[in-house]
Amino acid sequence: MVIFKKVIDIQSFISDLKARGEVISFIPTMGALHKGHIFLVENARKAGGITVASIFVNPTQFNDKEDFKHYPISVEADIDMLTEAGCDILFLPDVSEVYPNGTENMPTHNFGYLETILEGAHRPGHFKGVGQVVARLLDIVKPDRLYMGQKDYQQCMVIKDLLRQTNSTTQMVVSPTVREDDGLAMSSRNRRLNELQREVAGVIYQCLVSIVAKKGSDFAVVKKECEDILKAKGFDPEYIELADADTLQLNNSYTNGRQVALIAAKLGSIRLIDNMLIE
Ligand code: PAF
Repeated sequence: MVIFKKVIDIQSFISDLKARGEVISFIPTMGALHKGHIFLVENARKAGGITVASIFVNPTQFNDKEDFKHYPISVEADIDMLTEAGCDILFLPDVSEVYPNGTENMPTHNFGYLETILEGAHRPGHFKGVGQVVARLLDIVKPDRLYMGQKDYQQCMVIKDLLRQTNSTTQMVVSPTVREDDGLAMSSRNRRLNELQREVAGVIYQCLVSIVAKKGSDFAVVKKECEDILKAKGFDPEYIELADADTLQLNNSYTNGRQVALIAAKLGSIRLIDNMLIE
């Protein structure tokens, strides 16, 4: 795997590859890699061409300074995992490479409704920061395909909207969530859970399974059951919602269309999110 830290170097390397007709797949990450990220690399590799990953803990998407401060960092282990997974190129920039004119002077995008609900409502400014960094990374890497995980369902919708707004030709590929044996969605933040928190963390998954299984019943009742279960296990639930899977319009009840159930809950200071499609 070739590692680049400078924009100018990765740009010239990729532009040579593109001139030779190579197709570029890109997996943006904030490091602290887990099997979910590696699954994205594997999917990208299966599609052929060159696989590029980035590791950059983007300061502009953290609405909570403490979360940023405690975000896990494990670059050496990440490099080993990516190498083993057969990733071809790693972009490992520092803040001055990504934001050469400072974070304040980078253009932002407006994602309208998507910024006002769920993660957008609970993490003000988060999607502005995500849009900002992904736009910049796409501009640097210029990938043909962009791989993202369904675990961040709303983020995927924001990035789809970014691609639409920028008339991008990059095709987005969303890969299913990779889970631990008890159903807990793989996440970099999981490594901050202590033993007791880890023991109960799979309850979010169980709640999603029950929301899916109870399709057709009164969602208000199901939601209250989940809230009670989560609270009993020590979670502080932020939201338990049903939404239209294509527009993310929130629904008070089950519908006949494709929906997605979404949960965000805190265990101590660690915030976990997960979702499940109802088809
Ligand atoms: O999902 C993430 O890890 C980040 O939000 C992303 C897409 C790499 C942007 O910083």
